[in-house]
Amino acid sequence: MSLTSAFVNIDPDRCTGCGTCVRVCPSDIISLENRTAHAAPDTDAAKCLVCGHCMAACPESAIHIPALDPSQNRFFAFDLDPAWLAPGTGIPTSDLARLICSRRSCRHYKQTPVEKETLQDLIRLAVFAPSGTNSQAWTFTCLTSRSQVLVLGNAIKDFFKRLNKKAENGLLRKALALVGAKTLDHYYRNYYESVKTAILQMETQNRDRLFHGAPAIILIGSSPGASCPKEDALLAAGNILLGAHTMGLGTCLIGYVVAPMTADRSIQKKLGIPASETIHAAVALGYPKETYQRITGRKRPVIRMI
Ligand SMILES: Cc1cc2nc3c(=O)[nH]c(=O)nc-3n(C[C@H](O)[C@H](O)[C@H](O)COP(=O)(O)O)c2cc1C
Ligand code: SF4
Ligand code: SF4
Repeated sequence: MSLTSAFVNIDPDRCTGCGTCVRVCPSDIISLENRTAHAAPDTDAAKCLVCGHCMAACPESAIHIPALDPSQNRFFAFDLDPAWLAPGTGIPTSDLARLICSRRSCRHYKQTPVEKETLQDLIRLAVFAPSGTNSQAWTFTCLTSRSQVLVLGNAIKDFFKRLNKKAENGLLRKALALVGAKTLDHYYRNYYESVKTAILQMETQNRDRLFHGAPAIILIGSSPGASCPKEDALLAAGNILLGAHTMGLGTCLIGYVVAPMTADRSIQKKLGIPASETIHAAVALGYPKETYQRITGRKRPVIRMI
């Protein structure tokens, strides 16, 4: 039997038959035969998650997963130490806690552009987030100049202008509510006034109420085939927010972008994003024009220990 499938290459000269890869493979693809690891010859994309657990765990470096691109571990700003950090080692929780608790949504930015290499490094951090069935079917569209940010901003503003006009129609709201479509009425009650004010400020005071003057945006989307695309995008965004803070950048998730881009696909077309993709998250980012003195508390969450 071949030790190698198109998905998993195992070097029999290196393999000592320790069985580590067999234990860590979540898909039961690897087995030991004659004290040597073998990948099931019918291993295909449906079976192998391409998670790389086997490759990461093998003490003899006997396993290679061709689909894992080593260039994705290379960062522009620093050399990544490829040695695995075991739980409880390397980074004190107090340092991580300070980073997590110091990140704040930034709503005042300098106009200094964010370097493309920095955006690339942030995307490298993003793709190490977990994803449902390891689909990693995310897409990242970076708007790297203020003029591109404004193209998106104006398209979103126009969407909300149209929506507000629709929501002003009380008869339409009532008629829709009667047939169970209460979304427009909910929008009118909860968002209409604040959106109206924001549009007015954008048009008469040149205030960027949407992106807060950010010089760059990362739109995180998904290609078809992802099992949990929204969750994947937000987990990737979480890595970006924390990574950006360590790089001296401020960030803000902009939820107001997502519903318009889902409802009106012409917006993504304007940016050259293929129709097959769906946008789930938008991160505004730039060098911050705001500073803080201290870490504050949070609201009390509901916690149950059962
Ligand atoms: C899904 C999501 C959508 C958000 N959308 C916006 C937005 O459209 N505009 C904005 O200024 N902040 C937005 N935020 C930022 C939140 O307002 C912010 O995270 C919250 O107030 C807590 O503040 P902090 O991020 O500084 O801890 C969003 C946050 C999340 C998680
Ligand atoms: S972990 Fe490496 S050395 Fe151990 S059985 Fe698997 S391939 Fe062989
Ligand atoms: S990449 Fe993951 S799923 Fe595929 S063989 Fe290795 S451990 Fe198993």
